[in-house]
Formats: sequence, C-alpha cells, structure tokens
Amino acid sequence: MSARRGVNASSGVRIAPSLLSADFSRLAEEVAVCEAGGADWLHVDVMDGQFVPNLTFGAKVIETVRKLTELPLDVHLMVVEPEKYFDDFAAAGANGLTIHVEAAPHLQRQLARIRELGCAAGAALNPATPLSSVSEVVPDLDLLLIMSVNPGFSGQQFITGSVDKIGRARAMLDAAGSSAALEVDGGVNRATIRDVFRAGADTFVAGNAVFSAKDPAGEIASLRAACAAGTPV
Ligand code: DX5
Ligand code: ZN
Repeated sequence: MSARRGVNASSGVRIAPSLLSADFSRLAEEVAVCEAGGADWLHVDVMDGQFVPNLTFGAKVIETVRKLTELPLDVHLMVVEPEKYFDDFAAAGANGLTIHVEAAPHLQRQLARIRELGCAAGAALNPATPLSSVSEVVPDLDLLLIMSVNPGFSGQQFITGSVDKIGRARAMLDAAGSSAALEVDGGVNRATIRDVFRAGADTFVAGNAVFSAKDPAGEIASLRAACAAGTPV
C-alpha cells in the first residue's frame, strides 16, 4: 500500500474529528487544536443536498485544509454519483475517499478507481443498509464506515443498534483476513465510544463531541481514554 493510502497502516484507536462541527471562521486554529490534541485523522464531510438534505463543501475546502495540516484527510462523500469528484478530491489532497454503497451501483469499480488515484478506498453504510451490501467487495476495501446516525447533520443521537452491527462487521472483516479500518460515524462521544470500541471498531469520527467541548484537545484524549478503559479482555 502506498504511503498515501497508508491511512490504515497502524493498529489501535484512531480519533478523527469531523470538521463539519468546526468553527469555519477559525478553521486554521481548529485544525491546529486537533493536531496538537493528538487527532489521528481529520474527517471531512462532503454533502451534496441530494444524497443527504444538507450542503457542505468540495475540493476547494479539502485543498485549504490540506495546506493547514499533515494529518490524513478522511473524506466522506455523502453525494450521488461520487465518481464525478474522485479526481478533484484526490488532487486536492484527500488521503481516503469513502463512498456510500446506497449511491454506488458499481461499487467494485468505484473502489478500484479510488485506489488507482492513490487514496484509501472506503465504503459507508447507512443504518438501514445491511452488511451484505459489501460482502463481495471486502478485498477492495481499505475502510468500512458504519454510520451510527442517518447522515446529513452533526449532533445527532447515536443509534444503539450500531453496536451489534459493528460487531458483525468486525467478524466479517476478520473472517476475510481484511486489514481494513472499521470506522464508526455519528453520535460518538464519551458515553458511546466504549461500546463500539469493544465491538471492534478502530476508527472513531467525532464532530459535536470534540468541537462543542470547552477543551477540544482534552476531549480527543478523553475519547481515547474511554476506549482504553474499555479494552476488550
Ligand atoms: C453525519 C456526518 C458526520 C458528522 C458527525 O452525516 O457524516 O461525520 O459530522 O458528527 P457528530 O459526531 O456530531 O455526530
Ligand atoms: Zn462523516
């Protein structure tokens, strides 16, 4: 795997603050706080107002964030026809591109294209989408993202059934000998992170939990500590 795609090279807990909840009038400062606080990745939520009922940002913002940090940029595409954006987002400095299976009728080809561009290839599943939707493409995955809210907005409540789904996703990846990252996104906070960690997730997106905290750097550490306290035996 190339250095660029090496976003899933290490093991253990990865905390990925979601910039959707950052104060964009102080973007450089917010990114610096995440970096100083030990964030492993930065999560960038791209929404098109069609796949989800919200609009966010595109290549220009990815390019801007790229200039602010060396951290891997974990770009989550909540868009229809995601392949339209692959080249621009890769050129803008994305390290990983994660697409929704609900918007990807040619998932294997799309994942292969993401790898061709030198990025980690990720597939995301909405809460109602079964794991079987990715069972045939496990070898093509560098990352599997299990949504624990319906995508579109930060600050939503964690759907508790996601814990069982994460456990089944862990078993599926292990059975296939996959080293793909297993990421959970939505409503992750100090109260919910331990159960999904114990269920087998290794990568945790946190928007509201990090950026609404008085001390975002401290919150990143607290999320990591909550996982350590819940280390599976
Ligand atoms: C939701 C996005 C998430 C969101 C997470 O559609 O994909 O990444 O920013 O925010 P929190 O952690 O506040 O649920
Ligand atoms: Zn996201």
